[in-house]
Amino acid sequence: SNAGHPGTAVGLAANQWGQGDNPDPLIRHKHGLVGTSVSRIDGPLKVQGKATFAAEFVKEGLTYAALAFSTIAKGRIETLDTSAAEAAPGVVLVMTYKNAPRMKPMPLFMTAEKAAGGDNLPIMQDDRVHWNGQPIALVLAETQEQADFASSLVHATFKAEPSVTNFKEAKRRGTKTGEFGGGPLKLEIGDAEAALTQVPVSIDAQYSTPRHSHNAIEPHAATVAWDGDALLVHDASQAVVHTAWSLSSVFGIDESQVHVTSPYVGGGFGSKTLWQHQVLGAAASKLAGRPVRITLSREGVYRMVGGRSQTEQRVALGADKDGRLKAIIHTGVVAMSHQNALPEPFILATRGAYAADAFKLHVEVAQMDMLANTFMRAPGEAVGTFGLECALDELADKLGIDPVEIRILNEPDKHPTEGKPFSSRNIVEAWRTGAQRFGWAKRNAKPGSVRQGEWLIGMGCATGTYPYYRMPGGAARITLRKDGHARVEIAAHEMGMGTATAHSQVTADRLGLPLDQVTFGYGDSKMPGAVLAGGSQQSASIGAAIVAAQHALFAQLLILAGNASPLAGLRPEEVGGFNGGLVALADLARSESYASIMGRAGRDEIVVQEDAPPPMELQNWSMHSYGAMFCEARVNAVTGETRISRFLGSFDCGRILNAKTAASQFRGGIIMGLGLALMEETQFDERNGRIMNPSLAEYHVPAHMDVPEIDVIWNDIPDPHTPMGAHGIGEIGITGTAAAVANAVFNATGKRVRDLPLTLDKLM
Ligand code: MOS
Repeated sequence: SNAGHPGTAVGLAANQWGQGDNPDPLIRHKHGLVGTSVSRIDGPLKVQGKATFAAEFVKEGLTYAALAFSTIAKGRIETLDTSAAEAAPGVVLVMTYKNAPRMKPMPLFMTAEKAAGGDNLPIMQDDRVHWNGQPIALVLAETQEQADFASSLVHATFKAEPSVTNFKEAKRRGTKTGEFGGGPLKLEIGDAEAALTQVPVSIDAQYSTPRHSHNAIEPHAATVAWDGDALLVHDASQAVVHTAWSLSSVFGIDESQVHVTSPYVGGGFGSKTLWQHQVLGAAASKLAGRPVRITLSREGVYRMVGGRSQTEQRVALGADKDGRLKAIIHTGVVAMSHQNALPEPFILATRGAYAADAFKLHVEVAQMDMLANTFMRAPGEAVGTFGLECALDELADKLGIDPVEIRILNEPDKHPTEGKPFSSRNIVEAWRTGAQRFGWAKRNAKPGSVRQGEWLIGMGCATGTYPYYRMPGGAARITLRKDGHARVEIAAHEMGMGTATAHSQVTADRLGLPLDQVTFGYGDSKMPGAVLAGGSQQSASIGAAIVAAQHALFAQLLILAGNASPLAGLRPEEVGGFNGGLVALADLARSESYASIMGRAGRDEIVVQEDAPPPMELQNWSMHSYGAMFCEARVNAVTGETRISRFLGSFDCGRILNAKTAASQFRGGIIMGLGLALMEETQFDERNGRIMNPSLAEYHVPAHMDVPEIDVIWNDIPDPHTPMGAHGIGEIGITGTAAAVANAVFNATGKRVRDLPLTLDKLM
């Protein structure tokens, strides 16, 4: 059912070396590797068990770590008895605040260029407790089982202090405006409240979304070893260079003394950054003088790794009789800990989704004593589009306008709150194509009117949207051998999304080499660049760096080719990579193979390293990925059970690099969105701040029986202002999905549920 059509990236302006832009000018003449369905090159290794994950590195004298956690939200450790744990079989040592080495707090994510810490608290440095679930002791033993058992023997008593673990109480104590990306999460254009009172039709409703915990299939883990003052960390990471720099700051050593690798990651979703476990593992390794493997249990991830914070959102929309929006209000409160950097920024999508005369957008933060919250797939947009897109559905229903049409009607011609032109926005096409394919015309606009036996059936839709980012810090090294093999190296990440495969395709196409002549090295902090696999921007970062390095490589090759070459006199921007060599763009008959150029120059290999150009495209354009999401839901009239029977995502995300891995990313995002819509909820005991369902038995994520066949299509229209014509696709799938589900449930039942997850009790 993968209906993405192959790329047709021809006829674009040939400014090949501009600000990271533009498809390969020779794309028409090649096999067209980019865009095709190449299977993941790491796939065979994974299914054969040959891919070594963070917790699988073997070290001489390896010890195993287990943690004990606090059971109060705030206060002091009064007594800490580790004698039974120390006497248990196989125990090497027990580390607590009493014997841990001195360390600085982690540099908090986003507060410095390479900061990666999920919190900035002292780590096992004193008797203070800051959240319920904070690690208070680490046991090292000869086996994991011995460590796990001994950690259960650690006995602590606590002196609790007054804490804020109740959201109402936190709000009562006062809120402040959230900050994100260097600015306040607050925006007012015109007088939206006044406009709302003057329009003929309006909606003003409250939406809420719960706390969510990260559940990557691979729990967080690291294998750690010291060699003198040099620290080696085999991590599961989406930020290897950031992690290395941050650990060097924690331990007071030079950045060059920390080496972080992360060749395989079993899912990240924003959580595979630096948390206390890597620091504790390294500290314990230092103390024991032995390598350490620290693997968080599933419960450990819930206790120590932050998730998505809860939100309470007000969305008010005012429109004229034709459905044109006059006022958009999106305000509300999120919970946040004292020690973290992310107030769930639920207004981000609303800033650019629709045209309107007046806007009032505001995220306020209520502080709580709890685990630091953090990034989770489309932080902001995933839950913000739930409020916005449900409200728009309510407005459409009130006006008697088709929900697809009201979105198209309010399509802006430039960014509605920033005024910048769109680099590439073809969402109307995505809506039309999607509606056609989904059979939207068959939807009955009257809620509760389609029934098959016990099942009420409805259709709903919503817009998905996520920004294009490209962070500075991209750099790549290309090593080209005379035999026509190219190795690209970049400190990037493969978390299962297909990065290594897609960028092997990009490199092979750019250099004019077959795919099996390209290797892509990544996941190692010693490689060039400081790239984050986050914000759906890694591909753009990598691509810009590869294009820059390719340009440098061609420049060197032309110098080596000299006057004896058919390419003599050509500038780097006048040649392309084709059939294992360089070719003149203006005359494909003028060419010379890499082997020939390097052979005449007496070179076996050429190594180039280049930085990506700064992301100037972001200054000039408003850039986003878009999706038109369609859902068919069946709700059991007797039990209230909701089943999703069909889902379609119709995407406008620029040029697609690999149809197979892209389809998987889209589907994965949508599946996570189905979880957000129907089941995910961290149960937080508001009396003491304890997470009560720290396991996949009690915290539900979609299983196979919850997921229908998901159809994904895309328009594949290249953005002329991005490195490969591509936009990010890692996070777009989860945006809009929950609203599409809730809107389908409304169409099926006539019941409007504004509080996620949409469990059956809310439909009875
Ligand atoms: Mo994503 S939440 O930027 O890994």
